[in-house]
Amino acid sequence: MKLIILDNPLEVCEWAAKYIRNRIILFHPGPDRYFTLGLPTGSTCVEFYRKLVEYCKNGDLSFKYVKTFNMDEYVGIPREHPESFHSFMWNNFFKHIDISPENTHLLNGNAFNLEAECEAYEKKIKAAGGIELFVGGVGLQGHIAFNEPGSSLQSRTRVKTLAMDTIRANAKYFNGDLSKVPQLVLTVGVATIMDAREVMILITGAQKALALYMVVEEGVNHMWTASALQKHPRTTFVCDDDATMELRVKTVKYFKGLLESHNKLVEPLHSIKEKEEKERDLEEVHVVACGKADLGKVGTLDLNRIHDK
Ligand code: GLP
Repeated sequence: MKLIILDNPLEVCEWAAKYIRNRIILFHPGPDRYFTLGLPTGSTCVEFYRKLVEYCKNGDLSFKYVKTFNMDEYVGIPREHPESFHSFMWNNFFKHIDISPENTHLLNGNAFNLEAECEAYEKKIKAAGGIELFVGGVGLQGHIAFNEPGSSLQSRTRVKTLAMDTIRANAKYFNGDLSKVPQLVLTVGVATIMDAREVMILITGAQKALALYMVVEEGVNHMWTASALQKHPRTTFVCDDDATMELRVKTVKYFKGLLESHNKLVEPLHSIKEKEEKERDLEEVHVVACGKADLGKVGTLDLNRIHDK
């Protein structure tokens, strides 16, 4: 496990966005090689999406060859409801980036047969080659997606009933009215997340400090479902100082001491623009070389230009 401890929520979102940017670019996605990204909703990740949108608008990152699968969705509110996760994803992310709508996947909480919808979702993930990187948040009681306390750690995508703690936490999006928060949801299971080749969790704020402690320092436990990630070979928690308040001092010191080395994952920060420029330069050299031009002159010059970058 990696635990990245940063000063504040903004730095957390920026670090995570930079990491995703590098992961996608270095994966070299293309028409025959899509990068499959699992995605969360929630207030923690709003700034994370804003950063990714910024990279995309600047031409540093492209989602053309990215497929996304969201974690969860409410049952029984219209897709267009401002608080549906569908609306959240379109308003905060999808409509601002160059992703094709058919490459975005969200569970349909209004499906006639909810169980069939969940089964089909698992199949779609499989058909996409599995999830390369699942990004998630954590609820106050350490839940991941909507895998409420007591969820099987072997669970798959299914219908769940929300716990009162979650209904209370989410009431803020429904004018504080508990009765307006849907009680049923569709969610990927813990095992669905564990199948991803990599998982990254964003967790910020003192209110999540107990959850972070239970999830990373206590044992694997179905009451704090994100603790299952202790058994995942490639998990990164990105958190702010406030969220570490319940951790042991030696845990915090150890991981803070590793920050410089962990930062190598986001530095240098790659850019699709630069990658394309380099490829264009290489092509130029190739064309010049194949055209049997004066290689001694032009070829060497171009190669030097590539070297400089
Ligand atoms: C909901 C979502 C979770 C998310 C959590 C945290 O419960 N189902 O996937 O991690 O909210 O939300 P926030 O970031 O608003 O605290």
